[in-house]
Amino acid sequence: MADDADSKSVVGNHVWVQVPLPALNSKQSASSFFIVKNAISLILCYNCLMKLVSVDKLIPGMVVSENVYTLDDRLVMPKDTVLNEKDIERIKSYSLYNIFVEEEMKTVAKKEDKPGSDLPPSYSEKLRNTEEFIKFKQHIEDYSEQLEESFKMLANEAIPLDVDKLTEPVYHLFVEAGGTAGIFDMLHNLRDNSDAVYMHSLNVSLISNTLATWMKLPEEMISVATAAGLLHDIGKMFIPSEILNKKQKLTEYEQKALKEHVLKGYQLVKDKDIDPHIKNTILMHHELRDGSGYPLHLRNDKIDEISSIVTIANVYDNLTSKRVFRDPICPFIVLEHFEQNGLEKYEPNAIMTFMGNIVNTFITNRVMLSNGKVGDIVFVNPDHLSKPTVKCGDEFIDLAHNKGLSIVSVI
Ligand SMILES: [Fe+2]
Repeated sequence: MADDADSKSVVGNHVWVQVPLPALNSKQSASSFFIVKNAISLILCYNCLMKLVSVDKLIPGMVVSENVYTLDDRLVMPKDTVLNEKDIERIKSYSLYNIFVEEEMKTVAKKEDKPGSDLPPSYSEKLRNTEEFIKFKQHIEDYSEQLEESFKMLANEAIPLDVDKLTEPVYHLFVEAGGTAGIFDMLHNLRDNSDAVYMHSLNVSLISNTLATWMKLPEEMISVATAAGLLHDIGKMFIPSEILNKKQKLTEYEQKALKEHVLKGYQLVKDKDIDPHIKNTILMHHELRDGSGYPLHLRNDKIDEISSIVTIANVYDNLTSKRVFRDPICPFIVLEHFEQNGLEKYEPNAIMTFMGNIVNTFITNRVMLSNGKVGDIVFVNPDHLSKPTVKCGDEFIDLAHNKGLSIVSVI
């Protein structure tokens, strides 16, 4: 760690060279770069050509070279993210002063209205017109069709269950979305699809991977969570499509038939050579820690840890997606549900991590309030995650202190 010259420090694989600047204080050592105030843009690493820049000086196209965490250790932006304007806004909303970026810049698609467009300047609406989004949407739809074919062949025992091959498209989608930080931008804007099985399975896989990453699980467990999310509803292959696609409320008999997908799915995979967490997830993803789930009414730690992650991803995606019998539910209403029931029903670390991180993905998004006003989310209240501060024109509305007001939609 220490080195023979004052201007040079070795941290892990990095050899940092500090160009002398006037008035450096004692905090400005190699080990505390993340929390040092004032720009130190002249610190470079010989080995990997990364530099420390002030958050105020970030520009689109810079590539994050080290995971960026909040001071209380929550992931803000993963390594390798190519920063766009929204990412920079998100980083600025935290009390961080400097982050590490690579020397080389990359190009980012400019997220601005195309000439002649009469699109209003909401972030979501701009995003939906970017090439990245259009490509992502096309690919997730293509992958969803491929998944349907694969599941059908698996159900007929026509092909072996190759988990790595099945999850490959999920990792392609991550790359296209610009990594973990971008995936919710994409998913938030794909809420009109009512596919309750295949695209839902891809969504749940993406969300499970992200949550496992936020929880800092080991790499192999993140892979298992990704695969478990993808396969959790494979038992729906055995449920009649009239039940899966019924627009009216299901009868008691139909509800019972639908619930059988967990046992039917488990029957299909129980003797296969796949990770036991995946098998457990297929069986347990509707179990809840207070015993109110199904099929076994398991409680607390009797529920598989990976299944607990997939359960949260599954509930979030189900509620925030369009279904044949209802429109998507606003994510902030879902967050409120998690705030009220989360600790009883879901694994506490997983649900707290999920809520604490997902709400940050909405910073700078435009929302409509229950009084009809429209504004941008500018600040997340850590004590009331579903009640951020919204800037409507010149007015800052703190929803935590406006009891009757809530967010009704993200626009
Ligand atoms: Fe399910």
